[in-house]
Amino acid sequence: MHVLWRELGEKHAAVGRKRLVGRGISSNAIRSVALGCGGYLPAKVVTNDDLHLLVDTSDEWIRQRTGIRERHFVENGELTSDLATHAARAALVDAGVEVDEVDLIVVATCTPDETFPATATAVQRKLGMTAGAAFDVQAVCAGFTYALSVADSMLKNRVASTALVIGAETMSRLLDFTDRDSCVLFGDGAGAIVLRAEPGTGAPADRGVLASALHSDGRLHDLLYVDGGPSSTGTVGQLRMQGKEVYRHAVTKLADIITELLEIEGLKTTDIDWVVPHQANVRILDSVATKLGLDVDRVVVSVDRHANTSAASIPLALTEAVQDGRVARGDLLLLAAIGGGMAWGANLLRW
Ligand code: ACO
Repeated sequence: MHVLWRELGEKHAAVGRKRLVGRGISSNAIRSVALGCGGYLPAKVVTNDDLHLLVDTSDEWIRQRTGIRERHFVENGELTSDLATHAARAALVDAGVEVDEVDLIVVATCTPDETFPATATAVQRKLGMTAGAAFDVQAVCAGFTYALSVADSMLKNRVASTALVIGAETMSRLLDFTDRDSCVLFGDGAGAIVLRAEPGTGAPADRGVLASALHSDGRLHDLLYVDGGPSSTGTVGQLRMQGKEVYRHAVTKLADIITELLEIEGLKTTDIDWVVPHQANVRILDSVATKLGLDVDRVVVSVDRHANTSAASIPLALTEAVQDGRVARGDLLLLAAIGGGMAWGANLLRW
C-alpha cells in the first residue's frame, strides 16, 4: 500500500516538476506570484432600508454599529459557482492567462452549490477546463487565507504550476431574516486571484506569497455556526451568532496573527503597504488598527458597500484596491481574516 502511494506521489510530482522545468524553474526557491485578480458582485443591491422592511432595524443602527450601507444578494437560480466563475474570468483577463494554462482551482466557500461535488469542479466545468485539479476549502470567513496558503504550498511542492484561488459566497442563502442580530451583516459575491509558480530568491523583496499563518479553535464553535448539515439535521440550516463574543475574539485574534506573521518575516507594521482584511465590521478593523498602531488609511475597506461576504471579502477588497490604483506592483500586502470555527488566518503577499 505504502509503495503504491509513494509511486503515485512520485508520478504526480514528476508531472509538476516537468511543467516547471519546462518553464525554466528548477530551483527550490519557488514563489507563488499573483499575476492578476478579479471580482464579481451580483446585480441586486439591498440597502439597510430594504432590510428595515423585514426586521426591526434601521439604516442608522446598521451604519453606526457596522459601517455597512448596502450589500448585494443573488437572485433565485444564481449559484456560488456562477459568482466564482465570473470572478475567475475577470482574474484571468487581468492576469493575461488562458484557461488552459490553469492546472489548479481552489474555491474557498461555506455556501457550496451542492453538498458534493466541490463547487470548484462546477467552476472548472463552467470555465471549460478539462484538466488539472479542483477542490473546495471550508474555513468560513477565513477561507481565502486558508485557500491561498494551500495553493501556495501546492505550487511550491510542484503539484501544480498555475492556480486560480477563489473566494465565493452566497451568504444570503444561510440567513435567518427574522434574526436582526445577524441578517443585516452579510452579502454575496466572489473574488479571485491567479497565482503562478515563478523562480524566486527567497528574499522578502521577491514578489509572491511570502508567508502564511493559520489557526483554529474548535471550542469556540457555538459563537458562530450554521444549525444544519447533511450528517446532523439533513437540512441546510441557518446562521447563528453571538455577535459580542465574535467581535471580542475577532479583534484579539486578528491583531495576534498579524503580529505573529510580521515576526516570522522580521517585519514591522510600517513595512506593510496595505492591510487587506476580512470585511466584517468597520469597528473591528479600526480596533485592530489601533491595537497594532496601523495607519487606518492603509487598511482597505469595502464593508460599507459589500457587507460581510465571508471568504469572498478579501479578494473583492483587493480587486477594488488594485483597480483604483491604491495597490501597485511590488507593494507588501497583509491579508487577515477570522470566522466560524473559530478559524483565522493571515498571508503576507508581495503584489
Ligand atoms: N438593528 C437594530 N438593533 C439591533 C440590531 C439591528 N440589526 N441588532 C441588534 N440590535 C440591538 C440589540 O438587540 C441590543 O438591544 P438591547 O440593548 O435593547 O438589548 C442593541 O442593539 C445592542 O446590541 P449589541 O449586541 O450590544 O450591539 P453591538 O454594538 O455589540 O453590535 C454587532 C452588534 C454589530 C453584531 C457586533 O457585535 C459585531 O459586529 N460582532 C461581530 C459579528 C460579526 O462580524 N460576525 C460576522 C462573522 S465573523 C467575522 O466575520 C469576523
